[in-house]
Amino acid sequence: MMLRVANPRAKGVIIKMETNPLTSYELGANPGVRMTDGGEVVIILDQTQLPNREVRYILSEPGELFEAIAELQVRGAPAIGIFAAYALAVISAHIRAFTFDDFYNELAERAEYLNSARPTAVNLARATGRVLAAVRENSDLPVPELPLVIRREAYAIHREDIAMCRAISEYGLTLVKAGDGILTHCNAGPLATSRYGTGLGAILLAQERGIPLHAYVDETRPLLQGARLTAYELHNAGVDTTLICDSAASLVMRKGKINAVFVGCDRVARNGDVANKIGTSGAAILAKHYGIPFYVFCPSSTLDPECATGADIVIERRDPDEIRTKFFAEPIAPLGVRAYNPAFDVTDGELITAIVTEKGILRAPYSESLRVLYE
Ligand code: MRU
Repeated sequence: MMLRVANPRAKGVIIKMETNPLTSYELGANPGVRMTDGGEVVIILDQTQLPNREVRYILSEPGELFEAIAELQVRGAPAIGIFAAYALAVISAHIRAFTFDDFYNELAERAEYLNSARPTAVNLARATGRVLAAVRENSDLPVPELPLVIRREAYAIHREDIAMCRAISEYGLTLVKAGDGILTHCNAGPLATSRYGTGLGAILLAQERGIPLHAYVDETRPLLQGARLTAYELHNAGVDTTLICDSAASLVMRKGKINAVFVGCDRVARNGDVANKIGTSGAAILAKHYGIPFYVFCPSSTLDPECATGADIVIERRDPDEIRTKFFAEPIAPLGVRAYNPAFDVTDGELITAIVTEKGILRAPYSESLRVLYE
């Protein structure tokens, strides 16, 4: 397959995609992130330009790989993890080292640099940590063979994510019945993961199986992942989809249109506290008020056993201009007004009806039930 990529940084580049068994067809399932078979470059669909333009970038420089994460060209916890592993595979091919230690130290430095792009989603550091561990386990191999070890680990992370998404979606499907209204916040679909997604997986699977659901999509201020990405994915898949302002969630719940809330997550603490897109905890509090079940969809790659509670989770703070000016022809706030822009919040475990994982649907007490993911 020949792929022409509209990247201003790599004009007119044509990449030849080989049919190498390492990149079996299934890995093409994530439309957002891919790597060429020889690990030369990572190809991404720039999520910041959706839904208006489907632009793909070819990336290979450490700086642009870092930026792709920091600027949310690739976003969603599992997709960031997959991308970071591919990024290290690409970077590793350019490491000029004769000894294992020199190779490993430079790779570890690059991993640290990528990790610093975004602090909240644990999948990023988890994936780079896995790559480093795989390299350590192969310290007896000649240095030129180590990039292949990294490529294999990166593909394994991607494949596992596809399988986890599928299993999570199947479990999620058991929580709905035909005609249900499901509210979602942010984007936990294929763009944020691999095929199906986590929070959107059950909705997409239901659609495939002819089970009619009605999705209510919070627009998700300020970066509008709900409006731009979730509505794009669900609407394109033919799901009956209604976009709402975040502030309309209470009203649609009050009107009885919502049977369940489905969200993804960026880091889950051992006690079941969940970091996800800013506004998630508000939706959970509303759901509790109206007696609506609130489900978090969590692959084991997003559980952080090192975090005892949500208080240990670092919340990313982003540019205030994302609130004041972004997406608007002119500023929507007075010049110079202070703005506070946390990208995530923490939902207390006690507000969560169940955490849906690839190993089953887990219920409180989460400090016990979540152990199945890490013990
Ligand atoms: O800032 P983003 O767009 O990366 O935030 C993403 C989310 O909050 C998603 O809900 C989360 O990563 C789960 S994706 C399966």
